[in-house]
Amino acid sequence: RIPVIFDTDPGIDDALALALLASHPRFDLLAVTAVFGNAAVDITARNARGLCALFQSDVPVAVGAAGPLLDSRRRDGAAHVHGDDGIGGLSGQLPAPQRALDPRPAHVLICDMVNARPGEITLVAVGPFTNLALALRHDPGIAGKVKQVVVMGGAFGLKGHSGNVSPVAEANIMADPEAADQVFTAPWPVIIVGLDVTQEVIMREADLARLQGRGQGAGDLLWQATRHYQQFYDARDGIGGIYAHDASAAAILLVPEAFTLRDGPVRVVLDGIATGQTIQDWRQEHRGDTPWNGQPVQRVCVAVDAPRVLALFDAIY
Ligand code: BDR
Ligand code: CA
Repeated sequence: RIPVIFDTDPGIDDALALALLASHPRFDLLAVTAVFGNAAVDITARNARGLCALFQSDVPVAVGAAGPLLDSRRRDGAAHVHGDDGIGGLSGQLPAPQRALDPRPAHVLICDMVNARPGEITLVAVGPFTNLALALRHDPGIAGKVKQVVVMGGAFGLKGHSGNVSPVAEANIMADPEAADQVFTAPWPVIIVGLDVTQEVIMREADLARLQGRGQGAGDLLWQATRHYQQFYDARDGIGGIYAHDASAAAILLVPEAFTLRDGPVRVVLDGIATGQTIQDWRQEHRGDTPWNGQPVQRVCVAVDAPRVLALFDAIY
């Protein structure tokens, strides 16, 4: 089984990712850490606890960052995408949490768990990357002890996919560009699952409807929550479904052969009109005096076999 700490801002597509992580037999979910993003962090933490209860996963949940590393980066939330309560108005229907909140801040929980099991734990991060950046600051040694980091974030301009909060920037990066740049340039292996592939993984209405009646209420709630999310995407992109952004980051651990990866250092644009853009230098030539020179080689997803990813949802309940 794959030991995972899940860093998240639930979030409707976050909830689908958590369903996979909590319910697929090949995952060993160790903890969930909440971060601001799709809603304020007290809301995303409450959702995370209620979702863990819904998915019958009795793991620690810790509260993380309430905002980005730099105050000047604060932006409006994503209520128009995920609803005021982060999960399409359904937070009141989540079961009561089964255990108390973990007393540690999220980044401390991450450091403690990674130090206790060096080389074993995968971090899956699908919100702004502030908790991960704070963990690196708190204990830089964890970079050498994490097995790998898988993030949903970024947009690399492939296959006509652009950013979703600016022509070049994706939401999780734009929410805290400094944190994202620190995570991508830390000496740990990062796999970046960006919009270029997540916008190819479309759960159509029929796929979502199949969740109903499954997982002792979990499937019904996910179906209901995705109604809100689907309305947003139908109005914007007319896709007749939703993008499974965050679940794609969990999926790459189960079906790595469904993803094509490209290697090279990745940086985030930190000022000007392209702020939040992610750029990989995948050229094999000498990088010269550029911001990519000397940075760790990370892996960016450039193609996906979407049906392989979508099939995972038929396997969990
Ligand atoms: C990302 O932004 C959030 O709204 C989603 O949960 C996902 O993590 C997509 O850009
Ligand atoms: Ca998210």
